[in-house]
Amino acid sequence: MATKKMMLYINGSERMLVCDPETDTLADVIRRLGLTGTKVGCRVGQCGICSVILDGAVVRSCVKKMKNIKDGSKITTIEGIGAPTNLHPLQLAWIIHGGVQCGFCSPGFIVSAKALLDTNLNPTRQEVREWFRKNHNACRCTGYKPLVDAVMAAAKVMRGEMTMEDLNYKIPADGRIYGTGYPRPAALAKVTGTCDYGDDIGMKMPDALHLAVVLPGVSHARLLSIDTSEAEKMPGVEKVITHKDVKGNNRIMWPCGHILAKADGFDRPILAEDMIYHRGDVIAVVAARTRAEARAAAKKVKFELEQLPEYLNILETMAADAPQVNKEYPNIYIEAPLIKGQDTRKIIEKTPYVVEGSFYSQRQPHLVLEPDTDQAYVDADGVLTIHCKSLFLHINIFTLAPGVGHPAEKIRIIENPTGASFGYSLSPYMPGIVSVATLATGKPVTITLSYEEHQHITGKRAPSFSNARLACDEKGKITALEYEIAYDEGAYTESADVIAQKGLRFVGAPYKIPNAIGLCKTVISNNAVSTAYKGFGSPQCYTCSEQLMDMMAEKIGMDPLEFRYINVYREGDESINGNKFSVYPMPQILDRLRPYYKEALERAKRESTPERKRGVGIACGEYNVTSAPNDHTEIILGLNPDGTVTHYNNWQDQGQGADAGAVVHTYEALRPLGLRPDQIKLCMNDTALAPMHGPSAGSRSHYMIGNATIHAAEQLMNAMRKPDGTYRTYDEMVAEGIPTKYTGVFDTTGMTSDLDPNTGQGSPTAEYTFGTFLAEVEVEVATGKTKVLRMKCIADVGVIGNIVNVDGQALGGMMQGIGMALSEDYDDFKKHTNLAGSGFTFIDATPDNLTTEYIETPRPSGPHGSSGCAELFQSSPHVAVINAINNACGVRIYELPARPEKVKAALEAKARGEEIKPRKYYMGGDLHEKIDYIKANPFTPKN
Ligand code: FES
Ligand code: FES
Repeated sequence: MATKKMMLYINGSERMLVCDPETDTLADVIRRLGLTGTKVGCRVGQCGICSVILDGAVVRSCVKKMKNIKDGSKITTIEGIGAPTNLHPLQLAWIIHGGVQCGFCSPGFIVSAKALLDTNLNPTRQEVREWFRKNHNACRCTGYKPLVDAVMAAAKVMRGEMTMEDLNYKIPADGRIYGTGYPRPAALAKVTGTCDYGDDIGMKMPDALHLAVVLPGVSHARLLSIDTSEAEKMPGVEKVITHKDVKGNNRIMWPCGHILAKADGFDRPILAEDMIYHRGDVIAVVAARTRAEARAAAKKVKFELEQLPEYLNILETMAADAPQVNKEYPNIYIEAPLIKGQDTRKIIEKTPYVVEGSFYSQRQPHLVLEPDTDQAYVDADGVLTIHCKSLFLHINIFTLAPGVGHPAEKIRIIENPTGASFGYSLSPYMPGIVSVATLATGKPVTITLSYEEHQHITGKRAPSFSNARLACDEKGKITALEYEIAYDEGAYTESADVIAQKGLRFVGAPYKIPNAIGLCKTVISNNAVSTAYKGFGSPQCYTCSEQLMDMMAEKIGMDPLEFRYINVYREGDESINGNKFSVYPMPQILDRLRPYYKEALERAKRESTPERKRGVGIACGEYNVTSAPNDHTEIILGLNPDGTVTHYNNWQDQGQGADAGAVVHTYEALRPLGLRPDQIKLCMNDTALAPMHGPSAGSRSHYMIGNATIHAAEQLMNAMRKPDGTYRTYDEMVAEGIPTKYTGVFDTTGMTSDLDPNTGQGSPTAEYTFGTFLAEVEVEVATGKTKVLRMKCIADVGVIGNIVNVDGQALGGMMQGIGMALSEDYDDFKKHTNLAGSGFTFIDATPDNLTTEYIETPRPSGPHGSSGCAELFQSSPHVAVINAINNACGVRIYELPARPEKVKAALEAKARGEEIKPRKYYMGGDLHEKIDYIKANPFTPKN
């Protein structure tokens, strides 16, 4: 190491520093100086998270080596742009326009935008977008549109056409903030770079050891031996941890709660023992003084493997002669039926129109910009304290305790400010790794995965294979549906029980289908573990049924919208699970869409050329609100001595705006007290400080916490109310011995019922959301490249609690839907190890013309009429794109994603008079035989 002193002008002041010009990057140096507003994501120059201004130009500091920086250079980081008490217009605009969701990208974008406005104070939207494209600024949450809105608004302020006050949020005259764009309290720290995320917390933690993981590099093998001796001798190494050092049973306890499961859910080891079942199985963990030392030593851990055949496609593991992959349970370990109405064979025989198809949806990676990061330590009271991205804090205590060997009552889990998860952090796997490491070393530990490690270790959206047949009568009314869907659950059974339900609920939604049979299977492979991802389990269903809807419309010569219109649920209709709904907004949603759709069709016709064909597609979607039967949540409201109220909750914030949600619910529920919104304080996401909420999943949080908040607010106000109707102060309450804290509870017991294991009939969740997506695309015939030109969502998620938050979920959901349709995948273990290689949806693949409209039908059981919202927006937008491709150029892409080469091949086949379509997938047997067997031999639960 050649250490060198340098002088740099950072944020206007001269800074002396010492670095290694060969190995240090600019990001390393400025973060070591404490300027951790500059975040680091991909570390390879793809995401722009680490952007700073160097001598007037935007640079990605993670790939800028210090040897290439001149002494005396001028550097501006996010901290030099504005401070919490003195915001730059860009920072305020970012807050107001919803530029901050997880906020991990915000510093990089704001720095980049500042450099643009320094040279062009009057840019067009296109110039802003082009600037962000050129500077590689990536965002996974927002759909980019709010970011461009923010730059345009800030530029207006900077040009003197608007004041900061004009730009700022104002409480409406009637004092009601519910439904407005009330800004997120946490956004201030995120736009100023003062918010510490996991990696920042880890590097500032005293005496922390840095961890590095050892991965097998193969997907299926016997692990014969591990030799840590050489690694242990490496500089700075404190310990090399293997499964032998784990104090507990070394299992993530994730009970496979499905009543039909043939696995118990205790199959995922924290550290590999004798088998490797996928590339993300961690063989050993090195704990060392620095990250570099830990990584260097990890390369010295030797292990011997006996390579086994890798089963990377569940068509292989479902094959009749497939060997059993995991010795504990069969390859198809959940097989759950749906049976509704009459025998579909007889109905279909008599029905004039039948379409059928087979469809595949890919292993979509979450592609968060912050790779997984976790910290752990044992505090002075012997409490194992874990900082992580968990979206299910309390339950993770119980899923970890036996595995790591620490009593549950002595485990505390804290959610760090999180650079998004979109669902993958449902898994307690990485929290398990840091727990084991801190217990084995007796020291605080921290880890931030490289992007490649993150890709291999974390869960993904389960790929799906489906075969389906849809029938309808002469009038276009659906008469029957038959389908089977198999989810590739990867190497372990984690969360398979949940997805097995989804496959029985969303194929064919939101349409009235009187007769249906279905089989949903979860199947093992040697792939990444399947986990929650926004829309969990439903995009796979819509990949099948929303394409079938278009195929049927074409077959009977009806317009796809009008075919859907006559079949969507109307008042009193039942889903295929036999449940009724509290609201029936689908006809209204399609009525609202119709004029836009017609306009889009005309535009496509007008602008289509033989070389660039344009088309329009739609897809409908429905998603549940609440996660399972008998859902439960608790929060606490506490009156403080200064008259403010604190909301204690574990509404895990993955970027969706839990903080703003908690404020608007509390403010609305406590309106009689006349508080200002800033008098509502938050204490969130720490199991030691707030009660159990349950997961931030299933679009449940706004609904569940809102109802619990109303319950707590009623109790608090009743306690504060004096006989004359005025309210006691805190001091008066204390003087009279009246408690100042109240627990609000909401529970859906009695509102829901589990799906019947023999028929799939039931109503497992309390509420639903509905919507439709309209996509306009252009297909370049020569290359097959598809560009989405516009996308619109019309949705009903009940009364909106915060319009900026809901819009943010919708825009981000549509963007990730475009990614699912066209490019994103984790399938190739060499290529899909980074953002760009995995087909990340950058700004140039996301149209600026992303729009939303809402029909706000109040939900009778919802807080203030609201439900939840997030997941609907990623239910079926991808199918709107796929249907639009078909409308543009007459080819249907049955197996996603619709990469250019696939579309091109389909076009070429069409020119030859052929069609590329998958043969019916074999899924372990004949659908009718299985259903007949289940009917004859119903499952009887044992006591
Ligand atoms: S470009 Fe530097 S972290 Fe991604
Ligand atoms: S807000 Fe941009 S990555 Fe989350």
